Amino acid sequence: MATYASPVPAPSGTTTPSGTTTPSVTATPSATTPAGDGPAWWRSAVTYQLYIRSFADGNGDGLGDVAGIRSRLPYLAALGVDALWINPWYPSPQADGGYDVADYRDIDPAFGTLAEAQALLDEAHALGLRVLLDIVPNHTSDEHAWFRAALAAAPGSPERERYVFRPGHGPDGASPPNDWRAVFGGPAWQRVTEPDGRPGEWYLHLFDPKQPDLNWENPQVRAEFLDILRFWFDRGADGFRIDVAHGLIKDPALPDLGDDVEEILGTTTREGHPHWDLPGVHEVYREWRALADTYDPPKVFVAEAWVASAARLAAYLRPDELHTAFDFDFVRASWDATQLRATAAASLAAHDSVGAPVMWVLSNHDITRHVTRLGRLEQAPGDPGLHGSTSPVDLQVGRRRARALLLLELALPGGVYLYQGEELGLEEVEDLPDDLLQDPTWERSGHTERGRDGCRVPLPWTASGLSLGFGTAPAWLPQPTAWADLAVDRQEEDPSSMLAYYRRALRLRRDVPGLGAGDATSAQWLDLGPDVVAFRREPGFVCVLNAGTAPVALPAGHVLLASDPALDGAPGEEPLILAADAAVWLHVVD
Ligand code: NOJ
Repeated sequence: MATYASPVPAPSGTTTPSGTTTPSVTATPSATTPAGDGPAWWRSAVTYQLYIRSFADGNGDGLGDVAGIRSRLPYLAALGVDALWINPWYPSPQADGGYDVADYRDIDPAFGTLAEAQALLDEAHALGLRVLLDIVPNHTSDEHAWFRAALAAAPGSPERERYVFRPGHGPDGASPPNDWRAVFGGPAWQRVTEPDGRPGEWYLHLFDPKQPDLNWENPQVRAEFLDILRFWFDRGADGFRIDVAHGLIKDPALPDLGDDVEEILGTTTREGHPHWDLPGVHEVYREWRALADTYDPPKVFVAEAWVASAARLAAYLRPDELHTAFDFDFVRASWDATQLRATAAASLAAHDSVGAPVMWVLSNHDITRHVTRLGRLEQAPGDPGLHGSTSPVDLQVGRRRARALLLLELALPGGVYLYQGEELGLEEVEDLPDDLLQDPTWERSGHTERGRDGCRVPLPWTASGLSLGFGTAPAWLPQPTAWADLAVDRQEEDPSSMLAYYRRALRLRRDVPGLGAGDATSAQWLDLGPDVVAFRREPGFVCVLNAGTAPVALPAGHVLLASDPALDGAPGEEPLILAADAAVWLHVVD
């Protein structure tokens, strides 16, 4: 077994007589901005994703809103995150949870007003929290003024040129222009009725029919989105998460795909795909970057790009393009030390090639919550179970592994995205009644895929109340009764809770020298056996995760910085025994 590398001085901190440093479990609203006040704050930031419909309901209608977020800003500051990302809050028919935008320059009345949004931006900034919004450039809502105008106009008109309209195939044009499938199910084309009442052209929608794809070859579309970005930047938004960043440009020949099956928000591995990850998207982002750089401090972007490899992702992060992109590779990795390490190393190397930091992610509003994924002990190898797995779940194991993975991702070089509720250890809700399901996937798949509602169930804030403190009314999706035990007020009283663990880890990440930003060489991999992922960062920090089934004895000569005390044996004992499915942060004192 390897020993730790060079001796380093112990960090200052509260060291118990046994040599164990006890991390503080108290957290106060942040007065500091640990990710740095400088323009490169985003390189190491921990960003909390707010799925607005489900975070907190301020007006008692059962749906989350801006008022709810504002009322919980102190909670977010106390959690110890650096930034917030708010899912789309614009006026929308909500056919796809707000990713069907009818007006990019306003707030949906169900969520609040523009004035409230401004107040939220200002209040978050006063607490030291940056705010990223969500831009949806691949498609609008079919209720957007542009699409209404396109339907009212004739084929070939400038109004239609902003979208992807084509005549159908066959004698009456009754077959779609090609065989592309929509991500939510069914064909990716919808036929329209022309203003004269006759069946007419078809329009492309890679998602729901209520989400017509924009034509990014049209200069008007490009100019419009630059203007929308400016609108929110000028109001203080610190940046944007870019929805389906890999989807904007389509092969103009619109060739058939053949028998390709699109996984919902999964990855295509096909070379030369006609509508995902085409080279033309990079030109768009170079323009966006130039705009972001005109601000002081510069605004930032994070791409949602489900692409085939870390190298393909890195292409979006070249110095004159986007700053960051979600790294979905941990999401797809199995609970296997070799795979976790290889995944992290490959991501770090690919990002290094363009000088970008990795943004580690375990969950979001589109995939099964990771407590559940990690608890599926019988999941088929190679299937990460992002959607619709039915294999049994051991939530206790899932939560243990989630704790361990949190330490791993917070310690790796780069930044981290947290999804609301993961700090409470929430699991996927897999038994929502069919008639309450709202994800368009459910209808579009002919009731064969239940979709993503299970990771969007509103948060429990208190152990009692009609919606466990989410608001005063029942929540738009029902919460499991067992979530009373996971409510924020309960967890705040329990130093061993998941919430206390997140607060402690986030606090330590700010305080421990050497964490946060860094390139691949700033993490030196250690060989502590086949079931262990371990790395060292200077000065003298070591992270060890045991993904095996047996406890692992760690080399002597450390101070324990962070761990789950329930899992690790007696603190301060030498050698430290690291339980299965657990991780620790250590400081080397040899
Ligand atoms: C990705 C978003 O995260 C997802 O929620 C949405 O359904 C699709 N893009 C389409 O906008």
